[in-house]
Amino acid sequence: MKKIKKILKKKNKSKIVCLTAYSKNIAEEVDKHADIVLVGDSLGSVLYNYSSTKKVTLDEMINHSKSVRLGVKKSLMVVDMPYKTYISKNLALKNAKKIMKQTKCDAVKLEGGKKIINQIQFLIKNKIPVMGHLGLLPQSAKGKFQSKGKNTKEIKQLRNDAMLLQKNGVFAIVLECVKTQIAKQITKDLKIPTIGIGSSVHCDGQVLVTDDLIGLNETNIKFVKKFANIKRYINLGLKNFAQAVKNKRYPTRKYSY
Ligand code: KIV
Repeated sequence: MKKIKKILKKKNKSKIVCLTAYSKNIAEEVDKHADIVLVGDSLGSVLYNYSSTKKVTLDEMINHSKSVRLGVKKSLMVVDMPYKTYISKNLALKNAKKIMKQTKCDAVKLEGGKKIINQIQFLIKNKIPVMGHLGLLPQSAKGKFQSKGKNTKEIKQLRNDAMLLQKNGVFAIVLECVKTQIAKQITKDLKIPTIGIGSSVHCDGQVLVTDDLIGLNETNIKFVKKFANIKRYINLGLKNFAQAVKNKRYPTRKYSY
């Protein structure tokens, strides 16, 4: 709860940094820079080449989250509830309790608004902190990914859903691919923070998939900016090792028993 309060206090004061991690070693580095570490079900496409996050299982999320837990010390750790694990309120509670107990995370994230409000209400009533996710919802997207907030109907639904989630106690909402002016308005209307992904600078914070921004995962998604080319460093290390092995410069006596 202390970590969630810290996130809430940042609203209108300083930007919130949210980054994904799927394993301990990356989580350790992410933890130094992020306020929120998200074990996103994006791991399905990033690590397993699944065609959609719908294929990610609860066991996969739990196993990766257990590893991430080992690397996260200071940040708030949030775990995505995968597709179909919250189709009813009782199933949502059973699975959220399992995630919280086995991974020792601080909160779970669910995709959707009014359609899943009973599940969200039930989790919060049972003291499970929930992060919301509106706009583009990869778990329910059919076909091509499209931005949200393009017409009056979408704008009304987004604004209503955001208000409903806040009223029911979610502590923050991810806004994915929401049109700039709508994301700006929702951020202004809410007391809780919005975390944008492709939804403009006006959100209270930003999230990106770490593998994408460090250039480990190749993607051409519009909102992804490559902030580093980590593959260059990986290849340098691997090339040096391979050369040293071939030239018998490794292992020297220092590295041998
Ligand atoms: O699955 C994920 O990584 C996410 C973020 C990109 C918001 O939901």
